Amino acid sequence: MGLQAEWGKDMALVSGMVETVHGIPVFRGFLDADEQRSLLSDLRDIARAAPPFSPITGWGKPMSVRITAAGRFCWYSDRRGYRYIEAHPATGQAFPPIPALALRAWHEFETRADPDCCLINHYREGARMGLHQDRDEADFSFPVVSISLGDPALFRIGGLERGDPTRSLWLYSGDVMVLSGENRLRFHGIDRIKAGESALLKDGGRLNLTLRRVGEM
Ligand code: SIN
Ligand code: FE2
Repeated sequence: MGLQAEWGKDMALVSGMVETVHGIPVFRGFLDADEQRSLLSDLRDIARAAPPFSPITGWGKPMSVRITAAGRFCWYSDRRGYRYIEAHPATGQAFPPIPALALRAWHEFETRADPDCCLINHYREGARMGLHQDRDEADFSFPVVSISLGDPALFRIGGLERGDPTRSLWLYSGDVMVLSGENRLRFHGIDRIKAGESALLKDGGRLNLTLRRVGEM
């Protein structure tokens, strides 16, 4: 693991394995195969302690993505709306600690504080995530650091308004993407995953981790 290039002042220097796709830095293969397997094994332990669930949208429909978390906060949604929670909705327990490998990835980009949320999204074939902004965190000067594992996902990124033009890019297993600065509040979502491409997850599909700082400093 490690940065293949130094950040430019505008965090957009492109070299080696760093690609700037539509202005978003994507670190291809940031986690090597061993690191991906090791992180996956931590995620299995987390899923046992804090079983993934499908949040219910405001319209009463379950999301196609299953979610759990590590760290203090987990994103949650039901008919009352969405919010961050600090106890698992079924077990009532706190969420397990954030895996060391994920923390290390975060610290490559942000050293002021640890993340207090590692949201874990599980996409099976056919799952998607509609266009949204990540804007329920206290301080947008902290980035969202995203780690992809398993099957490739078609990620869509737009502007600061829902109707702004969007562009798409594929995220592959081991890729790390950073939404910070002017990209932090861009609308984004997952159109689809390409099932059966990666052998990392036993039953296929994709896991996405987003490291965030939700609470006040
Ligand atoms: C998210 O926006 O919460 C997840 C994005 C992804 O799955 O890559
Ligand atoms: Fe998001």
